[in-house]
Amino acid sequence: MRRHLAIRGRLLWFEADPAFAGEAALRFIEDGIVLIEAGIIKAVDEARVLLPQLTREVTLVDHRPHLVLPGFIDPHLHMPQTQVIASYGTELLEWLQKYTFPEESRYGDPAVSAAAARFLFDELLRNGTTTASAFCTSHPESVHAYFTEAERRGLRMIGGKVMMDRGAPPALLDTPQTGYDQTKAAIERWHGRGRLSVAITPRFAPTSTEAQLEAAGALAAAFPDLPIQTHLSENEAEIAYVRELFPWSDDYTAVYERYGLVRRKALFGHCIHLTERERAALADHQASAIFCPTSNLFLGSGLFDLAAAREAGLRVGLATDIGGGTSYSMLQTAAEAYKVLALRGEKLTAFEAFHMMTAGNAEAIGLAGTIGQLAPGYEADLVVLDSRATAALRRRMQRAETLAEELFALMMLGDDRSVAATYANGKCVYDRLNTGPRLPERGDQLASAGRPQGTEAAQQ
Ligand code: GUN
Ligand code: ZN
Repeated sequence: MRRHLAIRGRLLWFEADPAFAGEAALRFIEDGIVLIEAGIIKAVDEARVLLPQLTREVTLVDHRPHLVLPGFIDPHLHMPQTQVIASYGTELLEWLQKYTFPEESRYGDPAVSAAAARFLFDELLRNGTTTASAFCTSHPESVHAYFTEAERRGLRMIGGKVMMDRGAPPALLDTPQTGYDQTKAAIERWHGRGRLSVAITPRFAPTSTEAQLEAAGALAAAFPDLPIQTHLSENEAEIAYVRELFPWSDDYTAVYERYGLVRRKALFGHCIHLTERERAALADHQASAIFCPTSNLFLGSGLFDLAAAREAGLRVGLATDIGGGTSYSMLQTAAEAYKVLALRGEKLTAFEAFHMMTAGNAEAIGLAGTIGQLAPGYEADLVVLDSRATAALRRRMQRAETLAEELFALMMLGDDRSVAATYANGKCVYDRLNTGPRLPERGDQLASAGRPQGTEAAQQ
C-alpha cells in the first residue's frame, strides 16, 4: 500500500513576482495542508477542507505554527569551495589564484569529490535548499560525485563540469576537445536522469580560450534546452582583463553572445558592472542575472543594481555563490541582498525576497511549473520555517503584527536554525530536532512543541 503524506502548517507561496504584481502575487493559508503522493503535490487547501478527505494511508505531519514554503532554490554555487569559504583578504582574481584554484585541484580524487558532495547536500538541506545549480570542477570525478549523491537523495539538482583551458594550474586545465567531450559524456550520463540536469559550464571568459568558448557554443547549439552557467562582470579588474583578452569585443557580454552562450536558461553569476547595452542584450535573449550578495560584499566586488535589471526587463535570481559567498543560508543571503540594495538606495521587500528564493529562482533557472510553488502537479520539495527559532527571533516576533513583518524579521535574523524541516521528492530529508533524515512513521509520538507530529489522519 502506497503511503501518502499530508503536511499541515501555515502555507506560503508566490504565483507571481510581488515587485510587479504586489500582494496579489502572494498565496497564504494560515492553516493549510499540502497533500503529497509519490513525490508530487496532489492538493493544497485549507486544513478544514482537506482533513475530512484524508484516508488511512495518509500520514499527517503537523508543523503548525511553522511556515511551509516551497524549498529554497540556490541558482549559483561551487561544490568544490566548501573549504575555500572564508579565506582572508583578497579580491576576485587573486582569490581564485591563491585559494580557489589550488583547492579545486584536489577534486580529481574521487574520494575528495565524494566527501565534498555529501557535505554540500547535508548543508543545503539543513538550510532548506532543495535545488541548486552548481559548478563542479573541471574533473569528471567531481561531476560524478555530485550527481551520484544528488541521485541517491532524490534531489532536483543542476550541475556542470567546469570548462577551463587557460589561466589556472595544469591540474585544473582541460582542452577545447576534452572540455567538450567530458561535458557531452556528463550530459549523456546524467541529464534528465531522475531529477538531474547538466549545465554547460564554461567557468568565465578569462579561463577559456576562444577555441573553448566555441566548443561551449557548439554544445549549446547541440543541446538547446540545457542550462548554461558562467560568470559575468563581477569585478573591475576582471572586466579590464576580458577587454585585454578579447580586444575585438565591445564589452564582456558580447564575448558570450559571440559564441551563442546568451539565451534562455543561461545563468550569469554577478552581473554587477553591466552597461545598459549589456542588460538589454541579456534581457532580449531571456538570460538570467544571478545576484550573489554575500560574495559581492566579501570579495568587495560591488553592488548589484536590481532596479536597473528590472528596468531592462532582465530576469534576476538570488544565490549564495558558495564559497566566494559566506553563507549557505538563503535567508542570510536575502538579508545581505537587502543591505546591498540599501547601499544603492534601493529596496527589497520580504515578499520580493521570499519570491526570489522560491518561484523567482525557479523561473530564473527554467524550472517554473516544476518547482517553486505549492500547487498540484509541482514536485514536493518544501521547507518548514520556524520564525521563532532563536531568542532574538522570539523577542522580535512579539512586535510583528503582519506576515510581511514576520517574514522580514525572519530573513534578517534567521538562518539554518530557523529551518525546522526540509522535504524533497515528498520525503523528509532533514528534521532539525532529529539528528538525521527522517520520514515520519505511523503513530509517531513526539513530545516537544513545534516538532512534527506524525499522526494518523483517520484517528483525528
Ligand atoms: N569567476 C570565475 N570563477 C569564479 C569563482 O569560482 N567564484 C566567483 N565568485 N567568481 C568567479
Ligand atoms: Zn561563482
